[in-house]
Amino acid sequence: MSTNVAPAPGSSTIELALKIWRYDAETGEKELRRYEVEAPDWVTLLDVLDMIKDQQDGTLAYRKSCRMMICGSCGMRMDGAAVLACKTRMYDIAKAGHEPVISPMGNLPVLKDLVVDMNPFWGKIRSVKPWLEPGYDEIAEKERIVSQQQMNVIHKEALCIMCGCCVSECNSMESDPEFLGPAALAKGMRFVGDARDQADVERLNRYNEEHGIWDCTRCYFCNERCPKGVDPRDAIAKLGAESIRLGIDRDMGAKHAKWFVRSAETTGWLREEELIPKTQGYVAAIKQLKFGASLARHGKVRPIPFPHTARDVDEARTLRKVVQEQDRPGALGIVQGERALERLSHGHANESLDEIYERPGAAPRPWLPEVEEEAKA
Ligand code: SF4
Ligand code: SF4
Ligand code: FES
Repeated sequence: MSTNVAPAPGSSTIELALKIWRYDAETGEKELRRYEVEAPDWVTLLDVLDMIKDQQDGTLAYRKSCRMMICGSCGMRMDGAAVLACKTRMYDIAKAGHEPVISPMGNLPVLKDLVVDMNPFWGKIRSVKPWLEPGYDEIAEKERIVSQQQMNVIHKEALCIMCGCCVSECNSMESDPEFLGPAALAKGMRFVGDARDQADVERLNRYNEEHGIWDCTRCYFCNERCPKGVDPRDAIAKLGAESIRLGIDRDMGAKHAKWFVRSAETTGWLREEELIPKTQGYVAAIKQLKFGASLARHGKVRPIPFPHTARDVDEARTLRKVVQEQDRPGALGIVQGERALERLSHGHANESLDEIYERPGAAPRPWLPEVEEEAKA
């Protein structure tokens, strides 16, 4: 096999070293092996693996296909965090003299070296029914047009290339391998949010079952590691918002979310000490007195004899009113927030955040320690 990883005439080369976890599932042998390579300065991690396999050790096993971030085959870990090998440039790493450790993705059984068994991954994808259920049998005489605005809801979810990097880093899957996981749930949202799909209630009922959306710990590692900007955690939040909008709120997670909205609206505080009686009932609350004592020890319980309403509670109420008046229920509200944050972070909004806080009558800027430090400097 030839790698075609040769320096172009006139291009410079870099010297780099990396360590790869080699594993043989048949014998159970595991070994961290070091390799040195001289390569063109533009190489990616995938190119380096190709060179090692071609020139030094033909037994090295890994997956690849497109080499351009489309097929999703080359997910693996570099220094413990999931990456797409074909997206990961090696120049800065080599120049810094760092020797990265390459290992297989997490949360999936390892077959050989960097190759994992993707069957559990595909099983979960299949279980969310990743196809359109349009609810009509007749063939349309002309195209069924879907507006850009309607597609905006699932723009990010539609970018998924099924690489598994998010699953590799998922906290919940580590403790509960049955958890549907970020990739399958992002795929689920891709269809729940599709204006043509008619099976949203059926889908949401499935995703609200045990091991579903409410079992996510909101660690956000999936958002951090997704190489395509799908933001699976945001997709899970959209599924939660859609579930509540459609009255699918039997899970404790949905009840918690609703109670937090209610408590913020009424007193401006998250009244955590009332969470259990309000969501599970008073009998369950009495059974969990030990847990309540632990909350109190960690300062999470307000002094109960003196119920307290936040001084600026009107801001919380106004915010809720504005959201209701805008009539963007469910996932639409989250999409609006995503777009607003994008505009601000890319400098495309008409005003900067500072200018927004300087508007006449604007709410005071929240106190943040780092802002305070900057002001003092
Ligand atoms: S945010 Fe949820 S789905 Fe994403 S990695 Fe964390 S636990 Fe998994
Ligand atoms: S959501 Fe991102 S990380 Fe997860 S499978 Fe899709 S593209 Fe890969
Ligand atoms: S080889 Fe296709 S995504 Fe990397």
